Amino acid sequence: MQFVVTQNYEEMSKEAARLVESVMCATPFCVLGLATGSTPLGMYEALVHDVCTGALSFANVTTFNLDEYCGVAPTSAQSYRYYMNEHLFDLVDVDMARTHVPSSSCDAAEDACVAYDAAIERAGGIDLQVLGIGNNGHIGFNEPSDSFSVGTHVVKLSESTIQANSRLFNCVDDVPRRAITMGIGNIMKARQVLVLANGAGKAGIVARAFTGRVIPQVPASVLQLHPCVTVVLDTEAASELVPVKVDD
Ligand code: PGA
Repeated sequence: MQFVVTQNYEEMSKEAARLVESVMCATPFCVLGLATGSTPLGMYEALVHDVCTGALSFANVTTFNLDEYCGVAPTSAQSYRYYMNEHLFDLVDVDMARTHVPSSSCDAAEDACVAYDAAIERAGGIDLQVLGIGNNGHIGFNEPSDSFSVGTHVVKLSESTIQANSRLFNCVDDVPRRAITMGIGNIMKARQVLVLANGAGKAGIVARAFTGRVIPQVPASVLQLHPCVTVVLDTEAASELVPVKVDD
């Protein structure tokens, strides 16, 4: 696990975009796993900038998003499909048919989960998975639990996630109680993982997840077992990581 500590949110975002671009350039027909939330917004902005200047193209890129709320239509401003269109897909040269966000439909959710995993496999697996981290250590919507999940599945959102995400809805009662998310197994199968975190509010969970025990009660801790993870932080999010002493 490699840590990159940057001065601030802008630097974190640029560093993350640089890493995404290096994978895109090195991998023909690259498959990206993408995240939503506040954290990657600056990274998407940097990627859009580079497409606009002609330095980057998404023409041959396939994307799979981590998660989606159940029961929120793709046209709703609160849906993750809407977020992705607004902040990336509508602004770059990606082929929309190659962009995937889990189905928000509550009907036949189990079939949709199986189909999502199959689509990832058919695309050849994920080259780079981008992740934020929840205040409770969730990745995607894999909430603290007694076991690590495997494939895409429907989850009941935890109270802490409902509270954290209520800022994006009119009121807390409007936050969906269920979501569909890639499993920990899907994330661990990605060939490379990029985790982003910024702000003092994430410092405690970053330290617990990446220097504490690997336990399903802190889902992100499983990433300690992945062979190729880069964690890009700003100084505040890194503030509780204890530097390792190197003996001379
Ligand atoms: P945030 O969410 O980027 O809005 O902090 C991260 C997450 O919940 O995974």
